[in-house]
Amino acid sequence: MRIGLVITMTAAFALGSLAAFALLPGGHAYLKGFATQQGRALIGGPFELVRHDGKPVTHKTYEGKHLLVYFGFTHCPDICPAGLQVITAALEKLGPKAKDVKPVFVSVDPQRDTPDAMKDYVSSFHPSLDGLTGSKAQVAAMARTYRVYYNITPNPEHPEDYTVDHSGFMYLMAPDGRYVAHFSHHVAPAKLAERLAALL
Ligand code: NI
Repeated sequence: MRIGLVITMTAAFALGSLAAFALLPGGHAYLKGFATQQGRALIGGPFELVRHDGKPVTHKTYEGKHLLVYFGFTHCPDICPAGLQVITAALEKLGPKAKDVKPVFVSVDPQRDTPDAMKDYVSSFHPSLDGLTGSKAQVAAMARTYRVYYNITPNPEHPEDYTVDHSGFMYLMAPDGRYVAHFSHHVAPAKLAERLAALL
């Protein structure tokens, strides 16, 4: 019975996730009808990455705090920085409660997003924001646990200027690492602050 249930949940999530993603111009996916009960248990998990100060971090580093996890890359022209501005504004609106949530920006472009590049980048946003990167394998593993899609689009004329299509959601995780909720990158800061206040 237990095995049967797990298989059913996994199949339901796989079907749901196939239907859920649609790609926006510029490569940012959004999702519809994603947060089924079946899917919730399957988002998140252990990870090993490197913080913008060069120190290794894992899920254990953040135990005891809510995590607000957002994936992207520092060369993203518009949506990633807009999403980080939303997070910054929402945390400012949250006031003292903001200390209960740790925002992390996880790179899907570890080749260009070195810890130093992440350090420069996160300094433009909320002071509590951690920039996380790592080896290609570490980043791929992290994205997999969050069911995050990303794909490098080569630029033949300017190979250094490739772009990375990626899904752009914010995931709120509980202090014990369980999935709580997700938000679109274009959520209004006031709405995000209100939701966080209710969920923290
Ligand atoms: Ni982006």
